[in-house]
Amino acid sequence: MRMVEEIVKNMTLEQKAAQLVQIPYAQVGREKAEEWARLGVGSFLHVMGDNAKRLQEIAVKSGAHIPLLFGIDAVHGHCLNRKATVFPTQLSMACAFDPALVKRMAQAAAKEISADGLHQTFSPVLCLGRDMRWGRVDETFGEDPFLAGELGAAMVEGYQGEDNADDTSVMACAKHYIGYGEATGGRDSYDTSITYRKIKDTFLPPFEKAVKAGLASIMTAYGSIDGTPCTSDKKLLKEILKEELGFDGFVVTDWQNVSHLIREQHVAENEKDASRLALESGNDMMMNAPEFYEAILDLVESGEVKEEQLDAAVLRILTVKKRFGLFEDPFKQADERYLGCEEHLRLNKEIARESVVLLKNDGILPLTGQKRILVAGPSADDIRCNYGDWTYFSHPLPDYDTQPVRPYVTLLEGVKELAKKHNCTVDYVKGCEINEEIQGGIEKTVAAAKKADIVIFACGDNILLAAEACDRADVRLPKAQRELFKALCATGKPIVTALICTKPLCVPEVDAHSTAVLTNFNGGMFGGLALAEAVFGEINPHGKLPISFPYHVGQQPCYYNQLPGWHCRSYADMPEKPLYPFGKGLSYTSFAYSDMSFDAKTLTLRVNVQNVGERDGAEIVQVYFRDIVSSVITPVKQLVAFRKVQLKAGESKELRFTFTRSDFSLVNAQERRVTEAGAFEIMVGGRSDDADLQKCMFTLS
Ligand code: GLC
Repeated sequence: MRMVEEIVKNMTLEQKAAQLVQIPYAQVGREKAEEWARLGVGSFLHVMGDNAKRLQEIAVKSGAHIPLLFGIDAVHGHCLNRKATVFPTQLSMACAFDPALVKRMAQAAAKEISADGLHQTFSPVLCLGRDMRWGRVDETFGEDPFLAGELGAAMVEGYQGEDNADDTSVMACAKHYIGYGEATGGRDSYDTSITYRKIKDTFLPPFEKAVKAGLASIMTAYGSIDGTPCTSDKKLLKEILKEELGFDGFVVTDWQNVSHLIREQHVAENEKDASRLALESGNDMMMNAPEFYEAILDLVESGEVKEEQLDAAVLRILTVKKRFGLFEDPFKQADERYLGCEEHLRLNKEIARESVVLLKNDGILPLTGQKRILVAGPSADDIRCNYGDWTYFSHPLPDYDTQPVRPYVTLLEGVKELAKKHNCTVDYVKGCEINEEIQGGIEKTVAAAKKADIVIFACGDNILLAAEACDRADVRLPKAQRELFKALCATGKPIVTALICTKPLCVPEVDAHSTAVLTNFNGGMFGGLALAEAVFGEINPHGKLPISFPYHVGQQPCYYNQLPGWHCRSYADMPEKPLYPFGKGLSYTSFAYSDMSFDAKTLTLRVNVQNVGERDGAEIVQVYFRDIVSSVITPVKQLVAFRKVQLKAGESKELRFTFTRSDFSLVNAQERRVTEAGAFEIMVGGRSDDADLQKCMFTLS
């Protein structure tokens, strides 16, 4: 019998019940936490350093001597710890279309998480960002299931390492399972009206890839699918995840999901009812559900729940703890010097540079010659705008006014640093706050603009406007910023706009009146520097959008993988196409595609890509396919491969992509994933827009 099965056999009912609970340290405080540790609780979240160590010392001496598991929200680095490296958010990193880079970031983050004595990170987010009203789009890898799956699996591998028991390996926890970002109205934790077929077709693939990458844990979403809460959906948690996908890690609920069944979703009468429902549906660990402990004891005593039902959940948790070496070394910890170390800061700069997306350029960039530059706007010199959510500024430790910790480089600081080298002078006027005017701000900014040759306008939102439980119905720039931009346009000066934002905002006026537009969403400690380096041409930007920018909130859904069938294919008052499409990203050079061929026998695509400009650069080549006739309606195009290729000026390279039949599959009306015979179209190019894609037809027998 395996060691963990032996342990479960010898555990008391109380110890089993406690093992299934995850307690939030910050909420219960030291006293109560130590009591839970003596009782044999399975896990804590949001505890760090010495507080964690002290609890572990108690746990291993108590009851069944089962080591504690410590979970933390380290979602783009271990950013709740001020000493840690704040990497770009997932949405920002996704602009690099670079799984290897994301894996390296996760490896670095794992070292910093483990340096704090912690074992599990509630990351990656594998939800899709398809509705910009939702407050958590920044936490996603964007709108596409293929890209989210490739990057999510890479992140899991980075966190968990080759050897899970190594000091530098931590458990990944893919979240939020499932369809959380698809809720009606973009509303956080609200109901998602989709079918299981749609789930398997569009939202499950990223989780499948994460499970194949060895995922240790997965988090049940707050919301519900067509009226059934994810927390009480046995088909979702047992049949699809544990049986069909063969997931062998453990399922942890999101924050208080068990009591939400009573309070928010009204599918359970009381704590006993909710606890039984959560356990029987396939949740193994109950986050912030202290009431679950007593409830389960009562349920077993009254015979409503059999003790064996706890065993399956306890076994999954202990198996993962064993796999990650916690029984061998409950105090496993990476070297504390990893926190914010030079190597991680260098990697952070590299990622920031790979993630800059040039969306418009009338030729003014890269800046040349002696220029008097005015930097204006509320996002230019506030590092909090570059950080996104889940850092020491944000929840769960509400501390938005805390002082930022160096090192970091804001856009203004980056422009000032590079202006010296480029014989330029720099003025700065904030002009307005993110979401309110500054007295005389517009006048001051206009006056400064009149003296300048060019304006760099830094605008966007922040996590007071976009976060968990913070959705927006109108996703334009806040009014104060729209007014400031309008006044700047009236000066007639050329404007380079840097969108420093958590997610795509509806900015048609910015596109219409800026001579250039760049973004890297929330680029982390060095996001500002990377934008400045792109403006001065120190780097040749080559990021691509992992998500579409709508013209207007009402234009959604405007993701690229639309279904056919919309009559007249546009609104009477709005075009069909988004302002900026998925996959878009310009460069200071240009690339030509030619000699595309597809061998239907070997399913191999060949295409030639040439750098036909004057500068070396990189191109993220994208491959899409369409199933010409299918048993259910399928998208007009779907991403099926991508690859970044570095090309010197003039250089060309033949790229080869080999596929398998399952790459061209769909989920049919019987909810089964199949590849149907028939005609297919494969397309390749540097962005998802039709006009630029090379195409080939082929047939699968
Ligand atoms: C939060 C979030 C989840 C996070 C968890 C623990 O409410 O929904 O993403 O990991 O609770 O903080």
